[in-house]
Amino acid sequence: MFHANALSLTRLESGIGHLVFDLVGSPVNKFNRQTLDELREVLTVVAASDLRGLLCSSAKSGFIAGADIAEFSSLFRLPAAELSAWLAHSNAIFHSLATLPMPTVSLIDGQALGGGFEFCLATDYRLATRAAVLGFPEVGLGICPGFGGTVRAPRIMDLQAAVSWIVSGQSHTADEALAAGAIDALVDAQLLLESGIEHIEHALRQPQAWQQLRRERQSALPQVDSSAMVFAAVRSQLKAAGANPNPAPAQVLQLMERSVTVQAAEALAHETACFVSLAKTDVAASLAGLFVADQHLRQKTRTWAARGKAAERIAVLGAGIMGGGIAYQAALKGIDVQMKDIAQAGLDAGMKEAQQLLARQVQKGRLSSAQAVEALGRIHPTLDYSGFAEVELVVEAVVEKQVVKQSVLAEVERQVPTTTILASNTSTISITALAQPLQRPAQFCGMHFFNPVPLMPLVEVIRGEGSSEQSIASTVATAQRLGKTPIVVRDCPGFLVNRILFPYFGAFAMLLRDGADLRAIDAAMEDFGWPMGPAWLLDVVGLDTAVHAQSVMAQGFPERMQYDFKSATQLLFEHGRLGQKSGAGFYRYSPDAGGRLQKQVDDEALALIRSQQKAQRDFTAQEIVDRMMLPLCLETVRCLEDGIVDTAAEADTGLVLGLGFPRFRGGALRYLERQGLAAFCALADAHAALGPLYHPTPRLRAMAAAGARFYA
Ligand code: 3HC
Repeated sequence: MFHANALSLTRLESGIGHLVFDLVGSPVNKFNRQTLDELREVLTVVAASDLRGLLCSSAKSGFIAGADIAEFSSLFRLPAAELSAWLAHSNAIFHSLATLPMPTVSLIDGQALGGGFEFCLATDYRLATRAAVLGFPEVGLGICPGFGGTVRAPRIMDLQAAVSWIVSGQSHTADEALAAGAIDALVDAQLLLESGIEHIEHALRQPQAWQQLRRERQSALPQVDSSAMVFAAVRSQLKAAGANPNPAPAQVLQLMERSVTVQAAEALAHETACFVSLAKTDVAASLAGLFVADQHLRQKTRTWAARGKAAERIAVLGAGIMGGGIAYQAALKGIDVQMKDIAQAGLDAGMKEAQQLLARQVQKGRLSSAQAVEALGRIHPTLDYSGFAEVELVVEAVVEKQVVKQSVLAEVERQVPTTTILASNTSTISITALAQPLQRPAQFCGMHFFNPVPLMPLVEVIRGEGSSEQSIASTVATAQRLGKTPIVVRDCPGFLVNRILFPYFGAFAMLLRDGADLRAIDAAMEDFGWPMGPAWLLDVVGLDTAVHAQSVMAQGFPERMQYDFKSATQLLFEHGRLGQKSGAGFYRYSPDAGGRLQKQVDDEALALIRSQQKAQRDFTAQEIVDRMMLPLCLETVRCLEDGIVDTAAEADTGLVLGLGFPRFRGGALRYLERQGLAAFCALADAHAALGPLYHPTPRLRAMAAAGARFYA
């Protein structure tokens, strides 16, 4: 009856229409402008037809993934009136679905999220399989549902569930959806169509009941005390979670509290107003921008990985925290690992680390005991090179010293087939420098995991001068197989993430030198959105590790990163304070009853730092943020200009995934761009006396003068 790019309509024998979503060229169905237009057209056809009912399903493994987030950046930049018009247009389409002259049923198999779930709520009935996943992820994008979700959900579902689903943004299983009244029945996948037909026949036999259902969905909810309690409970949950830079959860809660008391049409007008005001925030722009950046990175990764081959067997050299973590990650993903160390004690520690990590997965119910035992069996500890003749990739994770790494790499190169790729997990040392003693530099690259390996998603794959395309491609494919997000970067000391992190630590050192209080610095940066302030972060990294890495960075970039004063990190390190690993660094640490390290202010550390300060001085939170963020952003600009990273999107995504840069700020370049390039350069100039870390590059000044942007 109708066939277009995203959907088609056929008439079943029973005279019921079957609308099937299957967006050409996309792995998911989504409501982009074109799909919405086609939906409008097909609903006109349905409305004018003699069809007895309408079934809606998907030909893909998921149902509909919501509005097309890739269109958000341009949509959100539209004037408010145009954005409202887009919502009005979309809602008119959903309204025509909800008011078709025949009963309608959604057949949900797979994800129905955001606008996809809102579509289902606009049909009379919803049937779902056990594979269904439903929810409103909008608040995670800094917005609220915009296709009538806040209006229909509380009128269809249990109010408590509707509010908490929308405010939390979490996805739910089919069982949860059934309990919440979000679906009418759970059905086997093979019986979905048949059950849908039965539902329509049933509705046709009881037209009053079906029409009554529709009328109820248009009215205000009856005023009962329990509604007030629902809103109060969710409000106190939000309050207990602490200050949230993302305004969406609190605003959507306020919206729904008001909306349930009015007719659906008025509630929809409130929803549109709320969506438009949230879409205009920096938070929404950042989060939508990051989604697109992530898509861009994934596309590049796919292209790289397609040219390479993921390793089936790998080896790890060095069974420390990193080596043990990498071995665990590989074993978890079904890859056999030779784990080599020079000392039995090292191997024992590496195996213990892997064992504990697997035990935690069992405790959390993510693995069965048998699966954990099987995974552990994939790690083969060894003091020699046995098994190395079969490995396709060796990850070197020995001590962070150039000469040691060079000698270990040169030795292992003689033990493996010529096709084997060698990769170094160095966090700072130049890959080109490490390649010097190698016979086959083309087979060598960097593969930088972040600590703790199981939790940190990013892996930097570093192209040394001699690294072949094939080595990079296969290392990317292996990182992907390990469940990580690889980002290909060019070689330099610190690569992308640490090259940017160390200027930030430099800014911290200068603030302390100039009399700031470390607690004020941590508080200001945590309020800015970082998961932990720089002092706490240094304690987690380890002050010994940080001091050593700083010296490598200073050698690599002496003009900016060689400091003419002793940093507090260096001073504390010299006093044997190594951070969390020794129980004391900038703070003091002791385990709580659950074994989690708790940090406390340490007067001894404060006294040591004060002994080096000429005078103590109060800095405002804004002064601290400016002094900390300027060097970080400027180094990100330099990395982009030097071609260490290809695009602004990759740089920002790398910082979010590798450093925990606050997501809602969208990354360093987006943060910089939001301030305006000219204003940012002026701010940097006001700090110029602090040294070259604060000096904008000539190209950034030129971009500022030309009104250019990092993001189109
Ligand atoms: N818009 C645009 N692209 C989307 C998309 C969406 N809503 N959902 C998924 N995609 C893209 C992904 O980016 C990915 O693209 P790529 O192939 O170029 O990398 C591709 O579809 C496949 O997605 P995944 O690799 O993530 O596939 P999975 O099977 O692992 O996950 C998913 C599927 C659970 C649907 C997941 O993609 C997801 O969570 N998507 C976002 C869902 C979402 O946030 N929806 C709400 C949108 S906002 C909205 O609807 C507003 C409305 O109220 C007005």
